[in-house]
Amino acid sequence: MAPRDDLGRQSHPAVAAAVAALTPSTEALRDLVRAFRSAMAAGLAGRPSSLKMLPTFVEQPRGDESGRVIVVDWGGTNGRVSVIELGGGDARMVAEDDFAFRESDRTGSAERVFDVIAGAVERVVRGESGPLPLGLVYSFPARLERVDRALALSLTKGWRTVGLEGHDVAELLRVALGRRGLGRVTVAAVANDTVAALILQSYRIRGHAAVATPAEVGLILGTGTNQAADLPGAGIRNHESGNFDGVEAVAAPWDRALDRELADPAPGAQRFEKMAAGGYLGEILRRAIVDLGRSTPLFRWAGSATDTPWSLDTVRLSGVAADESEDRSGTDEILRALGVISTLEERLAVRELARAVGGRAARLVAAALLGTLTFIDPELDSEHTVAVDGGVYGGYPGFAERVRDGLRELARAQRAGRVHLAYVKDSTSAGAAVIAAVAARRQA
Ligand code: GLC
Repeated sequence: MAPRDDLGRQSHPAVAAAVAALTPSTEALRDLVRAFRSAMAAGLAGRPSSLKMLPTFVEQPRGDESGRVIVVDWGGTNGRVSVIELGGGDARMVAEDDFAFRESDRTGSAERVFDVIAGAVERVVRGESGPLPLGLVYSFPARLERVDRALALSLTKGWRTVGLEGHDVAELLRVALGRRGLGRVTVAAVANDTVAALILQSYRIRGHAAVATPAEVGLILGTGTNQAADLPGAGIRNHESGNFDGVEAVAAPWDRALDRELADPAPGAQRFEKMAAGGYLGEILRRAIVDLGRSTPLFRWAGSATDTPWSLDTVRLSGVAADESEDRSGTDEILRALGVISTLEERLAVRELARAVGGRAARLVAAALLGTLTFIDPELDSEHTVAVDGGVYGGYPGFAERVRDGLRELARAQRAGRVHLAYVKDSTSAGAAVIAAVAARRQA
């Protein structure tokens, strides 16, 4: 049956072909599940693999961790320092201070970066007394040697900080805190955001029932995407799954072009992330539209902002996908902001494409998640909790349900039903506070 737009009209054949290119077959996704599992095994065994499976040295919480913890969350231009109060499985933010970097700081010294961070720490601890453990969320690649020793690997997201790569970020922060006389603040742990999500959910579960099975997977679906998992015999590992390269077989022409033309992350790097995460979904849609504008009577929008790479962000894509209005006036508004006056037919076609890009992301995420879960439990005989956070998961209409659909598509319904997706909104700082509290207890 020929594809139809959502007013039931037959899609333009070129739009239908684009949607098909953005819709991997179930069989191809099953291959992806298997490839993901193999890449995990290779990464864990230290063989060449696109999954690094980095050790985190983080242990599951008991649920009775309590007290005040400082958390620094740094992974880009903007960051945040918070004071978090832990108790009874609950993490409450009691104070916070945002910090921002200048464009020039990206290529400046590590000393300058940590000085800005230490300045923000100084502002939030002013009202606090006594020794305070600190958790640092470092959302760049790092190789941990202990929970409180993390050697920076090469930076991403356009950062080229001098004197960072190969250095311990915890120690750099300690030194910067020392310069401000903040010796009573102890850098107790460095963690990735995926691990923070996992640990926060475990803390909530065990805060209510100490013997309960903790969360086993942490998944972030925001600007970037990544998973962490508690693996039998290997402990909690940071997959850096955004780098999984088994997606080439299901890539559409626009994914390949984007990967080729982008300098950072370099071609070949972060292939999974470039097809599934918020940093890219809007741009994939824009590229599809521009291409169709060259080969069909639709989307003759040259001269508008749609010519400009990255002008169509994922928030706009989500807005189009969510637009149920008559005449698609929401989509019209979004396109007008880009300098485009569209026909109803074009708006319906954009919506079909937006939903294809968003739906594909959810199915890819489901496949990668099943890769991890079947690594832990091949037949999915037990119940599993996955802690999920991130702007795409919370912001794209029905994303959670699409991931669940994907799980049911790829695993038998009964088994898929044993996978519980727990949305842990704003988990990063709260989860890192729990990680730091667990680490501080061990170090005490
Ligand atoms: C990127 C980072 C990774 C992080 C993810 C989600 O993939 O490399 O460390 O977990 O984004 O923020």
